[in-house]
Amino acid sequence: MNILIAGCGYVGTALGVRLAADGHSVWGLRRRPAGLPDTVQPLAADLADAETLRSLPPGLGVVYYTAGAADSSEAAYRTAYLDGPRHLLEALQQQGQRPRRVVFTSSTGVYAQYRGEWVDEDAPAEPLHAGGRHLMAGERLFLESEFAATVLRLAGIYGPGRTRLIENLRQGNATYQDSPPVYLNLIHRDDCVGALRHLAALARPASLYIGVDYRPVERGTLLRWLSGVLDTPPPRLVAASTNRRSNKRCRNARLVASGYPFQYPTFQHGYGAIIDALTKEKKPYV
Ligand SMILES: NC(=O)c1ccc[n+]([C@@H]2O[C@H](COP(=O)([O-])OP(=O)(O)OC[C@H]3O[C@@H](n4cnc5c(N)ncnc54)[C@H](OP(=O)(O)O)[C@@H]3O)[C@@H](O)[C@H]2O)c1
Repeated sequence: MNILIAGCGYVGTALGVRLAADGHSVWGLRRRPAGLPDTVQPLAADLADAETLRSLPPGLGVVYYTAGAADSSEAAYRTAYLDGPRHLLEALQQQGQRPRRVVFTSSTGVYAQYRGEWVDEDAPAEPLHAGGRHLMAGERLFLESEFAATVLRLAGIYGPGRTRLIENLRQGNATYQDSPPVYLNLIHRDDCVGALRHLAALARPASLYIGVDYRPVERGTLLRWLSGVLDTPPPRLVAASTNRRSNKRCRNARLVASGYPFQYPTFQHGYGAIIDALTKEKKPYV
């Protein structure tokens, strides 16, 4: 099958490698595609510029949209999650493409719940910030398009090369607050890949899933666990932020019920694998 990954970055590249190994022809679209692995065909284009999307690979069977915002500005979110999806969907339509599924990666950042409550796909998503509203607008563009669409709202992604918490601990810069405790909702990169691959293969997936592991964890608990395993300086307790920020625990029950088997069900599994690799290779795991 011909597969396009639009916004082929951290998750998209790993997904492309996996899908190519499955035997598919995979194109990775990004502005600077040099350096994509050999099995992912580079496609230089700018999702913000519709002109550059005029000749997509023909006969696409599945299209993933995994582009991320360049920074945290409203303009960057608008480009990545509103303009980009609109341009790509229009290009698919204009080129008479009939993918059997289009998949959009959104974020659990759309949930503004802030009291540590559990949220699932039926919980209200009422983002406080413009960036979250652009994400939701992008979701709607996909879901209301002429194509069969699925949205996966991903939690915080970690994995090889995305180990900021470990670096913070090693540098003695890791902090947490405990009143109230702040929850981290996490998913390993390889489970992002696995879930995206799994959802596109389902005959009738739901329109919306949350992509998160089984165990939202208090930031302090995770940092103390990592610090103990890595023998770093302990994280520092700091005063609670007075800004209202989202603070919730996301459930993966719908994704699990769809048949997806997590490779790294909890942070202990995922970070444990990263730390094992660090220890074995005696070098940063990238
Ligand atoms: N990282 C997280 O913790 C997190 C959490 C929740 C949800 N998500 C979502 O999950 C998805 C995957 O995340 P990720 O961490 O893999 O993202 P990423 O590494 O930042 O990759 C995004 C890719 O999109 C490309 N891109 C950005 N703007 C583009 C444009 N205008 N035209 C073409 N390509 C463009 C970038 O490549 P070029 O710069 O070469 O164009 C980059 O390779 C994203 O949708 C993200 O919003 C991420």
